[in-house]
Amino acid sequence: MNLFQVAWDDYTENVSAADMTISLGCGYLLYSAAVLLRPKRILDLGSGFSSYVLRTYVEGCEDPIVIYSVDTKKRWLDKTAEFLENYGVNSDNMILWPDFKAGGLKNFDFVFHDLGNMRTRRDSLKVVEERCSLQSVIVLDDMHKARWREYAYEFLEGKGYSLRSLQWATVDDYSRFAEVAIREDSCRTTRTSLLLDVEAAGRNTHLSSSNVQD
Ligand SMILES: C[S@@+](CC[C@H](N)C(=O)[O-])C[C@H]1O[C@@H](n2cnc3c(N)ncnc32)[C@H](O)[C@@H]1O
Repeated sequence: MNLFQVAWDDYTENVSAADMTISLGCGYLLYSAAVLLRPKRILDLGSGFSSYVLRTYVEGCEDPIVIYSVDTKKRWLDKTAEFLENYGVNSDNMILWPDFKAGGLKNFDFVFHDLGNMRTRRDSLKVVEERCSLQSVIVLDDMHKARWREYAYEFLEGKGYSLRSLQWATVDDYSRFAEVAIREDSCRTTRTSLLLDVEAAGRNTHLSSSNVQD
């Protein structure tokens, strides 16, 4: 059985709708990018199946990794926490967006931005970017939406990020796909090799996920 398939089916049948949940391809991408980049502080914006994927990654790490999952609605934070607990996955550090915004949490080096509706997505980007470390990698979902994509490019390129499509790994039946933003002056490694690493990670899992038999 494919990695995450059973949990994704369960989540989309019993917790939320498939078109409100990250695609399975996006889940694989997040997991493999985390394995490759080894972030120390993860920010999961827009709780849900992404929380399950990223927290599953954290639980497999020997070193302590900090992860926060954030939502604009308590109802969805609670539903996510219940799902995580049913699967025996840690549900600490789940907070509401206004509390995150008002607090001092920062220096996240791996961020998944899938928060709220598209208006919230756009309005929250400045705060999200301010809480990133200099080496941060930001994965942005729903980049098929032209206005959101245009805004994200303009804002993040203005902050020194370079964006690249992850469409090949994340596109789904609703035409949704993600993109990745990496800061030009990242000192972790060169921008180019980081981009290539993320791309390779996605391609590998994409291939293996479609090759694995039930
Ligand atoms: C795109 S969803 C986030 C999905 C999440 N990252 C995941 O992997 O499942 C954005 C927000 O919509 C809300 N939401 C989730 N499922 C919903 C549903 N079925 N109907 C209405 N709102 C929903 C939650 O507040 C959620 O954070």
